[in-house]
Amino acid sequence: MTAPPDKSPERIASMFDAIAARYDFLNHFLSVGLDRRWRTRAIADLHLPTKARVLDLCTGTADLAIEATTAAQGIRVVGIDFAGVMLHYALEKLRARRLDDVVALVRGDATRIPVRDQWADAATIGFGIRNVAQPEAALRELARVLKPGGRLGILEFGEPCIPGIRGMYNVYFRAVLPRLGRLVSKHQSAYSYLPASVGTFPPPQEFAATISSHGFSDVKAVSLTLGIVYLYTATRS
Ligand SMILES: C[S@@+](CC[C@H](N)C(=O)[O-])C[C@H]1O[C@@H](n2cnc3c(N)ncnc32)[C@H](O)[C@@H]1O
Repeated sequence: MTAPPDKSPERIASMFDAIAARYDFLNHFLSVGLDRRWRTRAIADLHLPTKARVLDLCTGTADLAIEATTAAQGIRVVGIDFAGVMLHYALEKLRARRLDDVVALVRGDATRIPVRDQWADAATIGFGIRNVAQPEAALRELARVLKPGGRLGILEFGEPCIPGIRGMYNVYFRAVLPRLGRLVSKHQSAYSYLPASVGTFPPPQEFAATISSHGFSDVKAVSLTLGIVYLYTATRS
């Protein structure tokens, strides 16, 4: 079995800070634009009401937080991340879109969420939970800060379920993508860490069961784009 990569907060935060300037470009380029569709789907499945309070953990450059603001009138978002440079680019984007008074950015850890109990109507994590050293601690915190009936949406990479496609995808994901990522970001390991961390993340049914055991009901693992990505949705019990 492959050893899980080092997910110490210092290592993860400094790695994302180092690639922050090229992060958005590489997201769109390496996913051929599909990442936008995955985020749109994740927010749509939350069915956010008017004036909903949304928490976006591991917000990075805030793409999911920004998408959440489009779902209904009067939405407020708090985006939390421990990588300061990622948040710097997030803030630039929010200012450019005049959303800096709608989305508040907080530097903090997903396993110690700095908001009060039952503050949020909904919570999201886009491609972040795989990087959290103790995902169960983040789920416990999410159960604490969500209102009963509050919705959870988590996007994370998976593996295509159709064998022939899985083979081709793995060549791209494990051989081509790390080289392209290294070339553009100039970071030696961030885009090798990506497939390595996906490879050691639990399979969809197992992660869905983990969500269920942390105070959530109606948990679903929905395969997007043939299983390249999974959208986990759940309701706080
Ligand atoms: C792959 S990026 C995802 C960014 C964004 N959500 C998106 O959809 O593009 C992962 C982010 O999670 C953050 N992160 C990882 N572990 C974290 C933790 N324990 N607490 C806060 N942020 C964390 C990283 O700093 C990074 O910005």
